[in-house]
Amino acid sequence: MKGTDVILSLNNGVKIPAMGLGTVAPEDSRAKMVDNVVEAIKIGYRHIDTAWCYGIEDLVGKALQRAFKEGIVKREDMFVTTKVWPTMYDKVEQSLDVSLKSLQLDYVDLFLQHWPLCMKSGEDGYPTEPKDSNGNWLYDEKADYLDTYKTMIDIYQNTNKVRAIGVCNYTVPLMERLLKETSVVPAVNQVELHPQLAQRDLVQFCESHGILMESYSPLGSGGAPVLKLPQAIEIAKKHNVTASEILLSYHVSAGRIVLPRSHNPKRLAQNTIVVELTKEELDALDKVENESPKRYIQCAWSKVIGYSHWTDN
Ligand code: A2P
Repeated sequence: MKGTDVILSLNNGVKIPAMGLGTVAPEDSRAKMVDNVVEAIKIGYRHIDTAWCYGIEDLVGKALQRAFKEGIVKREDMFVTTKVWPTMYDKVEQSLDVSLKSLQLDYVDLFLQHWPLCMKSGEDGYPTEPKDSNGNWLYDEKADYLDTYKTMIDIYQNTNKVRAIGVCNYTVPLMERLLKETSVVPAVNQVELHPQLAQRDLVQFCESHGILMESYSPLGSGGAPVLKLPQAIEIAKKHNVTASEILLSYHVSAGRIVLPRSHNPKRLAQNTIVVELTKEELDALDKVENESPKRYIQCAWSKVIGYSHWTDN
């Protein structure tokens, strides 16, 4: 079965392919980014997850244009996500417009708040990681990250620029506050999610409110460290597949969205293959967090957000 062919529904009825292509791109991979995204579309990826702060939306835009012009896919058959970064917390529509221009699109399918944070920076949002001369992070203590989401609601309800809105990196307490104080339930919550960070409470809370979970860094990001998990390797042997196939199937089998990334055409194709996992296998993978918890994406602001498994080294 191909994960790229599995279609889920957002809480407003918009359809979303369960497997999307992550587009965080290390500097040395950018020269090949356009070809890489076109190749992914040829392989069958119909969902591209990108963001203003990745600095590569123009390359994704070129790839999409090439795919449209070569007749590989039509705009309406692609699902494109972008995000607003904390330094643009009070310039949400401006950020979206920059993304749309770079992507060469009239609308995105999903618009996400990248982090529940507000940071002080330049008018154009740069630097994206602002610090003062003493190295202290420039959080805007007077601003409320929820106002960013409220502006996103306004854009969703009053323009044709986005088909759905959602958030990233929200914990249960942050999501509780959002649900209490705003009028639109986010379509998704995109977080780091894999067996070592299964976050069962968060997943159950979001799913019980009709919020789809999206997994970023499903392999643990650079170097794919989660592939070494003995539990994943054991289940892979049973199914006669690789550990990566099990780690991606872990989400698709459980009705979640997964966003793997690869700059290698062979792995891009391999990553689309998913197998049906049993409830016992899913439960076993969910329990890995109890034995070897690990958050691979460590940001300075993890503490501010109140994350579990956060380290400052
Ligand atoms: P590469 O681009 O060379 O394929 P994540 O999706 O968790 O962010 O992980 C991305 C990392 O995992 C990248 O370093 C990517 O390297 C690597 N990767 C992606 N797919 C596979 C795979 N099937 N097997 C091994 N490594 C992979």
